[in-house]
Amino acid sequence: MNASAHEWQDAEVVATAEVADRIRRITLRPSRPPQGRTVQPGEHLKVLVGIDGSEVKRSYSIVDAAPDGSDVSLTVFHTPNSRGGSAYMHSLQVGDTLRVTQPQQNFPLRIGAPRYVLVAGGIGITAIRGMASLLRRLGADYSIHYAARSPEAMAYREELIAEHGDRLTTYFDSESVFLDAHALISTMEAGAELYMCGPIRLMDAIRRAWRELELDPTNLRFETFGNSGWYEARRFRVNLPRLGVSTEIGANETILEALQKIGVAMMYDCRRGECGLCQVKVTDVDGRIDHRDVFFSDRQKNASEKLCACVSRVVPHDPISATSTAQLTIDVP
Ligand code: FES
Repeated sequence: MNASAHEWQDAEVVATAEVADRIRRITLRPSRPPQGRTVQPGEHLKVLVGIDGSEVKRSYSIVDAAPDGSDVSLTVFHTPNSRGGSAYMHSLQVGDTLRVTQPQQNFPLRIGAPRYVLVAGGIGITAIRGMASLLRRLGADYSIHYAARSPEAMAYREELIAEHGDRLTTYFDSESVFLDAHALISTMEAGAELYMCGPIRLMDAIRRAWRELELDPTNLRFETFGNSGWYEARRFRVNLPRLGVSTEIGANETILEALQKIGVAMMYDCRRGECGLCQVKVTDVDGRIDHRDVFFSDRQKNASEKLCACVSRVVPHDPISATSTAQLTIDVP
């Protein structure tokens, strides 16, 4: 990635469209499109979104782009369980301007595998769709497995059927047709690569099956959004006794953001639960930890001794109780 990929620029909203239930496609025209290169599958934009009067960075996968990068489309799911960025993105109108980076790559497609399995859950299709198109154009052997709440909630369903035919398999919660991660992965031949993007439950199921079947870990590649968990995001309190501070974490902010706001020096990089740099030590928890990262192993998550402050949260022991508030006591490196 060249240095300019991290520079911020203005981008104008040039089109918006509802493409499925609570899913909006937003096309941006950056003031400085990437020079001399095309946007590749798996790339994303960082966007400054407005949340509670502050500007916060969020990452959104690029679903498609003009060959010269002059127009770039994102697709955003509006969920009450989000960290607030999706509400901002859904409020954008044609003519609005926002701040974005150049396209950045964390999820590259490796060309040359004997077979590819692409797995998308919900809005995770944004990262996977471009890969599928490229593999079709290359004549590669690939299949797509795409799960959503219902047909109405499945973005780009018609386009994918038209483009990929029987290489596409769909799964719908509303029809009780679920993706069986273990069954899918047990059909994979040696050397096949799996690319996935979706909610943490789906990713965890696939990673667990991958380990159980003792497949080569380098052939499993994934992209996270770091914003989907096991429980609905709720307000909770974090205490740092060593520093003598305590703060409330709103439903739309992360522990990392809230601690930075009150001046706690934090280490971080990806802000997506992947690198582990933001990890903090848990010394006490009144509630349950909702681990939303893909950095720690299942064993480490069960031990609940550490968590990734950029994505993970806590919920009350009774997560559907409207009145109780969880508390977390931590120490930072
Ligand atoms: S900053 Fe990378 S896991 Fe939190």
